[in-house]
Amino acid sequence: MGAPTANNKKKKLRYADPATFLPHFAWKKSPRGKAVFAEGVTLDEAAKKTGTPVYLYSQAAIHDAFRELDHGLAGIPHTLCFAIKSNGNRALLQMLAAMGGGFDAVSGGEIELLRRAGVPGQRIVFSGVGKSREEIREALRYPASGKNGRPGILLFNVESEAEMDVLLAEAACVVRHPSDAPAVSIRVNPDVQAGGHPHISTGHHQHKFGMDLAAARRLYLAHRDSRHIRWEGISAHIGSQVLSLAPFRKALQRMAAFVRDLRGEGIFLRYLDFGGGLGVRYTDQKPPSRADYAHMVREIVRPLGVHLLLEPGRSIVAQAGVLLTRVLYVKENRGKTFVIVYAAMNDLMRPALYGAVHAITPVTRAKGAASATLRRVDIVGPVCETGDCFLHDWPLPPVQSGDVLAIWCAGAYGMSLASNYNMRLRAPELLVSGKRAKLIRRRETYNDLFRADCNLG
Ligand code: LLP
Repeated sequence: MGAPTANNKKKKLRYADPATFLPHFAWKKSPRGKAVFAEGVTLDEAAKKTGTPVYLYSQAAIHDAFRELDHGLAGIPHTLCFAIKSNGNRALLQMLAAMGGGFDAVSGGEIELLRRAGVPGQRIVFSGVGKSREEIREALRYPASGKNGRPGILLFNVESEAEMDVLLAEAACVVRHPSDAPAVSIRVNPDVQAGGHPHISTGHHQHKFGMDLAAARRLYLAHRDSRHIRWEGISAHIGSQVLSLAPFRKALQRMAAFVRDLRGEGIFLRYLDFGGGLGVRYTDQKPPSRADYAHMVREIVRPLGVHLLLEPGRSIVAQAGVLLTRVLYVKENRGKTFVIVYAAMNDLMRPALYGAVHAITPVTRAKGAASATLRRVDIVGPVCETGDCFLHDWPLPPVQSGDVLAIWCAGAYGMSLASNYNMRLRAPELLVSGKRAKLIRRRETYNDLFRADCNLG
């Protein structure tokens, strides 16, 4: 974070207020001064009504992000398969499904969630470096939708020869006719450097993901005539929070050459799944726009005549969500000010896990309040770990117990990474649409917390 010390008053207190650059969030006039709105709802009121911590999402922001990518790909056949791992709220998934979205699942649990949300199997791709035999079996038997549908999912993205053996064995148990054979792709590792943080870059040869092109080629050829699977695709995902187009372009060009090479061998792939990874602006990052990213992808993919699949997560939901928390206490320790909030690292892991900077601001401003009274504070949660700190030396106007703060850009990998650490209840989630805030996940209760426990003896 590299912020100056708390008392360095000469240093400019500078940060961009996310309410000034995030679509569908804005400061507007309110009866007592100014308040941050998500669409037509004030964050302060929503937080006070539901209690905090609470995640709040703007439906319009999600909708617009999805549409921007979608429109950018107009003219080529494509499906946007939202990466559930970034936000697994069932209502959000239903909303994306209603917009024509598909889904990228990485576990049996995510596939079960899609089944419960009523998503047809033909909109699901199954990724992941370690799918278990049981998970593969379940996915092969994913219930058919409609009368003429067949069981199963759109695409298995296989990541190793050993996994392929399991898939072949399991497919042999269900495939009665070659036309029932599951559609399979190999996740290749295009060997490019990309990704915002060492933990989230995946597309270099030293990472655990995918297969190198030579090994993938051998595997495609070895099962060219299989009766139990059909080669239908190729996939890749080079990393997450990628902030330039160059690594995407390089990886995509390598995949396109590979697809052509396979055609020479008589293997005609229908799908090219290019994963997710487009970065977003949290504070001062300058990612390519979704439209520019989509145009670049479209231009490389169009001549191939394949159906494009993308697996965006963060670029659809990150900026659409805030985590709202109330201030519990403010305390001074030898000149350092700590603002103790009720949200904690169990609610939003990204700062503790990746050193990620999520801007924090108040959500109301009283009439006539001077904006020059910022001071540097540490904003910390109540969990018993020093790492439970959202921001160090962050410029904040004076706040007091009960005030509501917004922790910004928390829509992706916020709630989905939340845990019950310190026996804390996971937060509820609200979806704002116009002037309405709808509860789309309730706050957990102590019964939820302890329902799987067993007594001794
Ligand atoms: N497809 C695959 C195969 C992936 O592994 C991922 C993310 C995605 C799609 C979606 O990527 P996105 O568009 O969201 O960048 N917890 C970390 C991010 C981990 C990403 C893992 N894979 C964070 O909070 O930054």
